[in-house]
Amino acid sequence: MPDITAQTPPSTAVVDAPDPTDEAAIDAAVGNALAAIAAAATLEELKVARLAHTGEKSPLSLANRSIGALPKDQKAVAGKLMGASRGRVNKALAARTTELEAEDAARILVEETVDVTAAPRRRRAGARHPLSILQERVSDIFVGMGWEIAEGPELESEWFNFDALNFRPDHPAREMQDTFFVEPPEAHLVLRTHTSPVQVRSMLERELPIYVLCPGKVFRTDELDATHTPVFHQFEGLAIDKGLSMADLRGTLEHFARQMFGEGAGIRLRPNYFPFTEPSAELDIWHPGAKGGPRWIEWGGCGMVHPKVLRAAGIDPEVYSGFAFGMGIERTLMFRNEVSDMRDMIEGDVRFSEHFGMEI
Ligand code: DAH
Repeated sequence: MPDITAQTPPSTAVVDAPDPTDEAAIDAAVGNALAAIAAAATLEELKVARLAHTGEKSPLSLANRSIGALPKDQKAVAGKLMGASRGRVNKALAARTTELEAEDAARILVEETVDVTAAPRRRRAGARHPLSILQERVSDIFVGMGWEIAEGPELESEWFNFDALNFRPDHPAREMQDTFFVEPPEAHLVLRTHTSPVQVRSMLERELPIYVLCPGKVFRTDELDATHTPVFHQFEGLAIDKGLSMADLRGTLEHFARQMFGEGAGIRLRPNYFPFTEPSAELDIWHPGAKGGPRWIEWGGCGMVHPKVLRAAGIDPEVYSGFAFGMGIERTLMFRNEVSDMRDMIEGDVRFSEHFGMEI
C-alpha cells in the first residue's frame, strides 16, 4: 500500500525574488537564465526558457519590480545592476533566437529539396465517363432552348411506369421477361423500364406550359452482350402547351439532331405504335459522319401525347396538346462515337473514357 501521507503535494512554489542589491544572487539568476537559453535546442524550448527567465514571474522580473520598495539611496545601484543583468539575458535570447531560426531554415531547405533525378510517381488521373458527358451535352442543348431538366425515381410505381402511360394490363412490356418487378407484388413497384413515367410526374407536379427533358437510368431484364445491358440510360423529352403540333415536334428534333450531329444532319419520322402517343413515330437520324458513310440510323421514338395520358395527369386535351420523344444514351454514344461493344461502357476501365477527352 503506498503511503498517501508521504506524497509530496504538487509544487505551488512561489519563486523567491532575489534581492536586487545582492550582486551575487542576481548573477546566479542571470547564470541560470543563460544556461537555460544555451540549452534550448529548438525555438519551442527557447520560448519556455524565455518565459521562465524573463516572464512576469521570473526571479529577475520580480527582483526588478522590488526596486520600487527600496530606500532611495539603494535604488540607483539596484537599477543599474538589474538593467545590466536583464540586458545580458535579452542579448543571449536574441542571439539564440537567430541561431535557432537559421537552423530551422536550413533544416526546411534540406527537407523540401526536390530531387529532380528521382523517378516520378505516376498516378493516373481519372476521366469523366462518356455517357455522363453525352447526357450533359443533350441536357445543355435543351436548356439552351429554355427547357427544364426533370427527374423521377428509378424505383417506380407500376402506375407511373405503365398504367398512366396507357399500357393495358395485358401489354407484353409488362411481362416478366422485360420488367424487374420488385417484391412484394402488392406494392406494385418496378425498376422503371423507361424514362417516360417522368412525363406523367412532370405533368402532375408542374405548372403549364411544360418543357422538360428527363435523363436517367432505366432497367430491363436483358442479358449483357455487345448491344444490350440490363441497366442503361435514356432521355425523355416532353412539351405540353396550347396548340402544339407534329410540326413543333419535327422542328425541335431537327434542331436537336443538328446540334448533336452537325449541320448536315436530318431527321425522318416513320409511323409506329406507342401506347402513350397518338400518332406515334419512329425517329431516324441522317448521320452525316457515320462510319462507312452518311446513312439513316434508328434513334428513338416520339409522338403526340395521347389524350388518355393527358387526362390521367389531369390535363384537358381539348385545351392543351403535347409531344414527347425518348432515346437511349448508350445507343446514341454507339453510333455517334463508333463504340461497337456496349460492354466497354460499363466495365469502368478509365482507358475507355480517356480517349473521349473531357468533351465529345
Ligand atoms: N419509352 C419508349 C421506350 O423506352 C421510348 C419513347 C417512345 C418515348 C415514344 C417517348 C415516345 O416519349 O413518345 O422505348
